[in-house]
Amino acid sequence: MSRFVVTGASGLLGLNLSLQISVNDEVLGIANTSPLNGLPFEIQLMDLVSDNFEEDVLEIYKPDAVIHCAAIANLEECEKNPELAYHTNAVVPGEIAFQCRKRGVKFVHISTDAVFDGKSGNYSEDDLTNPLSVYAKTKRAGEENVQNQNPDAIIARVNFFGWSLSGTRSLGEFFFNNLISKNPINGFIDVNFCPLYVSHLSNLLLEMVKVDLSGIYHVVSSDHMTKYEFGCAIANQFGLDHSLINPISVTKSNLKAERSLNLTLSSKKLSNDLNRSIPTTLDGINQFYEDYQNGYAQKIRNYSIEN
Ligand SMILES: NC(=O)c1ccc[n+]([C@@H]2O[C@H](COP(=O)([O-])OP(=O)(O)OC[C@H]3O[C@@H](n4cnc5c(N)ncnc54)[C@H](OP(=O)(O)O)[C@@H]3O)[C@@H](O)[C@H]2O)c1
Repeated sequence: MSRFVVTGASGLLGLNLSLQISVNDEVLGIANTSPLNGLPFEIQLMDLVSDNFEEDVLEIYKPDAVIHCAAIANLEECEKNPELAYHTNAVVPGEIAFQCRKRGVKFVHISTDAVFDGKSGNYSEDDLTNPLSVYAKTKRAGEENVQNQNPDAIIARVNFFGWSLSGTRSLGEFFFNNLISKNPINGFIDVNFCPLYVSHLSNLLLEMVKVDLSGIYHVVSSDHMTKYEFGCAIANQFGLDHSLINPISVTKSNLKAERSLNLTLSSKKLSNDLNRSIPTTLDGINQFYEDYQNGYAQKIRNYSIEN
């Protein structure tokens, strides 16, 4: 049995990942402001920007691995508060990476597909980055800090969807919630991406730790689609009306933070190094549906103290 620390354990990835780890291994989840209720694993509240992670977590819990999912992941929030975004997304990962290296603890840093400008697509790990928004710039700076402080770290560039604590955190939930309420919504026809279902992503991250990979990896689905197609695929899977989704260009939206258009990433390196195939987005939408039917979506929401 291994001992994991997962930061961002109240977030979309961190909570799903911690629940998955807790089935066979031990996990301590770190959250900041969101108190949780009735979890099958231990949770500790701390602010990674101001509290002492090394003394309060590494020293006491002595984990085998830390999976760092905490971030300010909301693009508009990063535009509003660039200094806090930089500290949280760039400085903190470098600090924890250093502390883990010193103590021989495996460190996994979660980064983003948005480190690319999306002008070409099908990006490999060797391609040049060019982040556009404050969020993307701070995440790229976080990758650099982690690489400098801990060359053995895994840096996973991800994109994912799933069921969250609030029920509103992921793009999958956005489409599902609006379609089931019969609200007309927009779907971008010119933004391409490769989102993995969160449990597929969690499995891959745990396999990467197990075989002790290091360096940058694109941990995304093996296919790609536009955000409009993603919404339609969710509608079809749940038997909802896809004509509620209005196909429009992202240039017609009033989002403030600049978005990259073609965020298709190649997961070939990961597939080769793990010697396995990588799930598709459609595999993920299928599992997203199964997890709704088997009550997992509601189970996640019940961990919120507000419920
Ligand atoms: N969602 C996506 O599709 C996507 C795409 C690409 C990359 N990513 C990356 O994937 C990772 C996880 O994203 P997510 O969507 O799961 O994020 P999320 O749902 O927004 O959750 C963010 C988590 O970070 C915690 N956090 C923020 N500031 C903190 C601080 N100062 N101290 C301690 N904890 C702090 C939050 O804690 P509280 O809620 O308790 O305050 C929360 O648990 C991030 O690194 C993100 O950049 C996400």
